[in-house]
Amino acid sequence: MTNVHIDTSHPYDVLIGPGLLDEAGALMKQAVGLCTAAIVTDSTVDRLYGDRLESSLRAAGYETVRTYFPAGEQHKRLGTLEAILEFLAERHLTRTDVIVALGGGVPGDVAGFAAAVYARGIRFVQVPTTLLAAVDSSVGGKTAVDLAAGKNLAGAFHQPSLVITDTDIMRDLPEALLADGAAEIIKYGVLSDPEMFEWMRNEGWKTKLDEIISRSVQIKRDFVNRDEFDTGLRQQLNLGHTFGHAIEKCSGFRLSHGQSVAIGTAIAAGAAGLEEMVGAILDANRACGLPVDVPYDATTLAASAMNDKKRKGASITLVLPERIGLCRLETIDISLLEDAFTRGIAMVEAAR
Ligand code: GLY
Repeated sequence: MTNVHIDTSHPYDVLIGPGLLDEAGALMKQAVGLCTAAIVTDSTVDRLYGDRLESSLRAAGYETVRTYFPAGEQHKRLGTLEAILEFLAERHLTRTDVIVALGGGVPGDVAGFAAAVYARGIRFVQVPTTLLAAVDSSVGGKTAVDLAAGKNLAGAFHQPSLVITDTDIMRDLPEALLADGAAEIIKYGVLSDPEMFEWMRNEGWKTKLDEIISRSVQIKRDFVNRDEFDTGLRQQLNLGHTFGHAIEKCSGFRLSHGQSVAIGTAIAAGAAGLEEMVGAILDANRACGLPVDVPYDATTLAASAMNDKKRKGASITLVLPERIGLCRLETIDISLLEDAFTRGIAMVEAAR
């Protein structure tokens, strides 16, 4: 088992290894002590892993309660949050108890937000069950629900007390869910790990999954430790996301977050004028079953990106690679965003 320690205002460990779901009770007992544990998940994950998690918690001595909401991003809404809060109140959860967020990004974000606001904040443990959640959303304390105006627009920073990542669960995931997580791993490679980038480019995620997860979490730790509240450096974790979110939105969310970020990362390298790197990123995308073409034109994508959360008035901050392993933030006037898309898309098309 690997232990990645996150040194934020509320420090915690991310435990990564095979078979950890069945040890979750014992691991949690060490980190948060015995109390009532409220498992919050979605309908799909509840069916797959709910009983195993609950048995492990009970075997360790926890009182448990459990609730789930329908699976899908469309349920990452205030109505779901309210139902969870009412459930916690009906079961008399107190501030000394703990929520266990079991699932991918949606249950993690919603249950984390419930923990941030229930009784003005209670502890929570993340048990990610997708690769994307394991390498990104379960670590760093961003919790949220979506509003009609956009994704993640209501939320809070609330660090978990522990993250338990069972790598056996990751190995069993369908290819499409692994590919989604792989997009973020390629991103981490471009941000600060040339060796891991080469693994992804040559072999995809398949041969070194446990190590890739640990290294990705270590990279995320390095950004989060230095900028917990996302005021500067942490924004580099948005590499590929401004371009990618525009693609995701234009597709009406038919393209997944990972598929969109994968192509967005290649566009970012193109916008930075790095032709060779665009080719390398497209190789990595191919190796991981991720897309290599841009399905919309620059004008359409730039118009969609105008509403990006990262826009600040008349400017927007882009994450631009300098070389594999090093990126920089560059704030540009919003009027130049379409040019950045045009440059990036042209290079992606030339390199395909
Ligand atoms: N997912 C980007 C971040 O946690 O900052």
